[in-house]
Amino acid sequence: MGTILVVDDEQGIRTMLQGLIQRENHEVLLAGDGYTALELLKTTAMDVVLTDLLLPGMTGIELLKIIRREFPGIQVIMITGMPTIESATEGLRLGAFDYMSKPVSGEVVLKTIRNAILVKRLNDEKERLKEENHRYRERLEYLAEERIRSLKDKVVIVQKDVTEKKRLQAEALQISHLASLGELAAGIAHEINNPVNGIISYAEILKDECEDQGRDDEIACRIIKEGERIATIVSNLLYFARDVEEEYAPVHLGTILEATLSLIGKQISKDGITLERRLRKGLADIRAKSREIQQVFLNIISNARYALNQKFPGMHPDKLLEITATTVEVSGVPHVRTMFYDNGTGIPDAIIHKINTPFFSTKPPGQGTGLGLSISHGIVTSHGGKLTFQSREKEFTRVIVDLPAATNPESGRGE
Ligand SMILES: Nc1ncnc2c1ncn2[C@@H]1O[C@H](COP(=O)(O)OP(=O)(O)OP(=O)(O)O)[C@@H](O)[C@H]1O
Ligand SMILES: [Mg+2]
Repeated sequence: MGTILVVDDEQGIRTMLQGLIQRENHEVLLAGDGYTALELLKTTAMDVVLTDLLLPGMTGIELLKIIRREFPGIQVIMITGMPTIESATEGLRLGAFDYMSKPVSGEVVLKTIRNAILVKRLNDEKERLKEENHRYRERLEYLAEERIRSLKDKVVIVQKDVTEKKRLQAEALQISHLASLGELAAGIAHEINNPVNGIISYAEILKDECEDQGRDDEIACRIIKEGERIATIVSNLLYFARDVEEEYAPVHLGTILEATLSLIGKQISKDGITLERRLRKGLADIRAKSREIQQVFLNIISNARYALNQKFPGMHPDKLLEITATTVEVSGVPHVRTMFYDNGTGIPDAIIHKINTPFFSTKPPGQGTGLGLSISHGIVTSHGGKLTFQSREKEFTRVIVDLPAATNPESGRGE
């Protein structure tokens, strides 16, 4: 059972067809021309349109074109009292379901309508299945994406866990390394301290004796001087290795720098690096935990030394490390600015923003932990200072350490 629209300008034929079609329990609507037919099509869902070819105003072929365009599912049966090959061909070409010439038997009309309804239903079902298939695919894609996303999240979480675990393990290792190194250093320093003091004392006795006997005391003086140098290194090492919570105190930058260089200065000169130090006179004291700042300087100088040795393996006249310190104002507050300039390998632009990141290192595995600058950055920041880098690849690196002055600059001591 379907809904059929009969379009014919002759009332008699309309009612005749209506009566015929209703015999099969179809619902039948009637239109006298193409315009009325289109109006009805807009308001009622039809299965089949049975239309005359010759209509007033709009021809059956024109109506067919509009129906095919605007109501593509509806099947159109053309029926005419003046059949021509041209109109039949055109009608079928435009997608008419069938083309019939009057007179036509009621049985043929009903059969054609039945077939048209069947085709319409099949087409409708096809469309519905297409639509359902589409929705189903969309749902499937959505579910697949969801699944992939949740798996990705899991992978990321696992990755994060692994990275975090690795980071903590490396950190623990570094801490335990430092701690055991510290213990070892402290132990050795204690052991060396006593004999060194003994050596100095004996050398002083020797010096006195030389003086008493009017002999040259130069050798004894040299022993004393070198002995004192050992004592300084040892006491710095002890200081560095001591695991005590330090207090902030005013300290002159020169003192920290000397202490640092007593630990690393020898290696610098052995590598053929020219070290230039320029500390501005009247430099303000900084308010600092000396040991921590010493650690910062030690790491910066070690990095510079490494970069210089990379660029100039062996001796080279241009192998330069320059350390300067001045008092500057940062946002109206006096700061002591220490600059470490080296003309080593420099830092490529692409990585300069990463060098403060924990575990970032360009050194070969086993040679650098990549913790140096991140620790230094943490120390400088906790001092209320700032650590900045300027560099040009293959040319130079300048590390700038700004630390707040302890009091006003006048209170500082000159060098
Ligand atoms: N003066 C410099 N010249 C060139 N590159 C530098 C300099 N200072 C730091 N870098 C770059 O920054 C990276 C990170 O330095 P950082 O001190 O944090 O770690 P590291 O030196 O690699 O390892 P570690 O400090 O444990 O020896 C270095 O690997 C290097 O690539
Ligand atoms: Mg380093």
